[in-house]
Amino acid sequence: MKLSVLKEVAAGDKRVAATPETVKKYVGLGHEVTIEAGAGVDAGYIDEAYTEAGAKVEKTAASAVKGADVLLCVRTPDASKLPDGLTVIGLLDPFKFDAAAFNAKKATTLAMEFTPRITRAQSMDALSSQSNLAGYRAVIEGATLYGRAMPMMMTAAGTVAPAKVFVMGAGVAGLQAIATARRLGAVVTATDVRPAAKEQVASLGAKFVAVEDEEFKAAETAGGYAKQMSEEYQKKQAELVASHIAKQDIVVTTALIPGRPAPVLVSDDMVKTMRPGSVIVDMAVSQGGNCPLSEPDQVVDAGGVKVAGFTNLPAHLPADASALYAKNLIAFLPLITAEDGSLNLETDDEIVTAMLLTRGGETVNERISS
Ligand code: NAI
Repeated sequence: MKLSVLKEVAAGDKRVAATPETVKKYVGLGHEVTIEAGAGVDAGYIDEAYTEAGAKVEKTAASAVKGADVLLCVRTPDASKLPDGLTVIGLLDPFKFDAAAFNAKKATTLAMEFTPRITRAQSMDALSSQSNLAGYRAVIEGATLYGRAMPMMMTAAGTVAPAKVFVMGAGVAGLQAIATARRLGAVVTATDVRPAAKEQVASLGAKFVAVEDEEFKAAETAGGYAKQMSEEYQKKQAELVASHIAKQDIVVTTALIPGRPAPVLVSDDMVKTMRPGSVIVDMAVSQGGNCPLSEPDQVVDAGGVKVAGFTNLPAHLPADASALYAKNLIAFLPLITAEDGSLNLETDDEIVTAMLLTRGGETVNERISS
């Protein structure tokens, strides 16, 4: 199979879809890899390292993708610049995906976001690998914006109180945020609407804060995601959060229901009750935000409270984010590889079927076509 990797075109994204380590493995498996010059340089992977690993480095994107079977990418590439009939695998932002542009190119597109959360697909789960790093980075960014120290410090000049960190949504990003805040010495509380999260939060040494009624007890889908909660539940949750949040120094919000706008968890009024100097990092800002005051890639000053909305935290850690993402891709590729090493899309593997958005000019995924 001929694999191509281009420099990312999405603004500010420094990640790359293959590292010298995965290129070496692809070549070892008999695939050919062509990389656009400079594709990995922002993530610390220089062209020479790719050449040494066995890739061919081409000066332009057009020459690097010419003749390829598969384009491995991080974010959605510019369809108009791709050759016809290409298979594109990446984080294609499926709910905002311009299927028509790729159908016009008869492209087959596979969205890494739609990797099902099943045991067999764990090594391919790019949302998890990236969210993990993002949860870590959200706390680091929050700590940087916070004008005080995180851990308790007892010095001759006096004692510094530990920061109080509240993590809302204890999924992949949230659990890593909890672990990171704990490592930095903060006093951590967390909330979620899924009962399974309670034990996980406690195991990381944080206190669980939630409305634990009958609806809460049934709030997880078979796919492991949260359900949309009733208005009544949201009201009770808001009351609980309102009393808790006023005492917090750093709030990290990560609440998500796939394919839906982010639930509003921190209202304007709640922000007003927070102390000046405290920080909110809204990780769901791209889905509309868990806090209505957050703006994409800005730090908003709301009466002394800093509300940060970084849209692409994994890209703040481009080397690790690329390394993990490249491993997700190489774990997936065998599912569409025939015994002789050629591309094989004639499969009914549930992982491939779930990820397929378009095929040969047609949109084939119900989740985006409905
Ligand atoms: P996840 O699905 O693992 O976790 C989301 C959690 O939110 C789940 O545990 C869910 O039960 C919880 N939740 C849903 N509704 C809730 C509510 N009303 N109250 C409390 N908790 C609620 O998702 P993951 O991977 O941890 O991502 C979390 C968020 O972070 C998503 O919005 C995702 O798009 C965003 N994200 C942002 C990044 C960035 O750079 N800004 C990078 C990676 C993820």
